[in-house]
Amino acid sequence: MTPKHPSESLTILTDLVLPSETNPLNNLFGGELLARMDRAASIAARRHSRRIVVTASVNHVAFNRAIPLGSVVTVEAKVSRSFKSSMEIFIDIWVEDRESGNKTKANEAIYTFVAVDDTGRPVEVPQIIPETPLEIARFEAALRRKQLSLVIAGKMKPEDATELKALFI
Ligand SMILES: CC(C)(COP(=O)(O)OP(=O)(O)OC[C@H]1O[C@@H](n2cnc3c(N)ncnc32)[C@H](O)[C@@H]1OP(=O)(O)O)[C@@H](O)C(=O)NCCC(=O)NCCS
Repeated sequence: MTPKHPSESLTILTDLVLPSETNPLNNLFGGELLARMDRAASIAARRHSRRIVVTASVNHVAFNRAIPLGSVVTVEAKVSRSFKSSMEIFIDIWVEDRESGNKTKANEAIYTFVAVDDTGRPVEVPQIIPETPLEIARFEAALRRKQLSLVIAGKMKPEDATELKALFI
């Protein structure tokens, strides 16, 4: 399978925050943002693998900044690393200033998707070759994040998470 670059999976979703999508403080409801991120990440995983993909895990979500009603929100998703059948997707959330048009980073998240066949069985995906310094940094840390996610899910013994353990020694 020919390896791919993260840029080939880049997915950008831009949309408004409408009144039905806000909490009592008139900020974007967290679940709505999770759904937008899941959609963008799913398209990125599909672009990388060209297969059916399913969300295996939401590894990290940081709601650092509230996003007010009426904001223009951009969700940017890219595959940061692929393993055998799984792909880590890094998601950056940007909010656009109405007057200047400048974009400020509001949140970020990391999802894991798995490529599957028609019966739902995991299938292999292309490897990935990172290019930019940010892509390389995210690629290098992805194995530790995968191990952490598997340990938390009870699918890996902590003693087998070699690269993750090395962080603390
Ligand atoms: C995700 C799913 C396909 C994994 O199937 P499985 O039988 O556990 O298969 P495996 O154990 O071979 O795991 C497949 C890959 O997923 C990875 N994976 C599984 N759970 C994971 C987790 N919690 N975090 C990170 N990676 C995970 C495995 O490490 C493996 O990766 P690799 O092939 O790249 O090494 C299966 O659990 C599933 O279909 N879940 C439901 C998905 C779904 O419906 N999502 C929508 C949410 S409602």
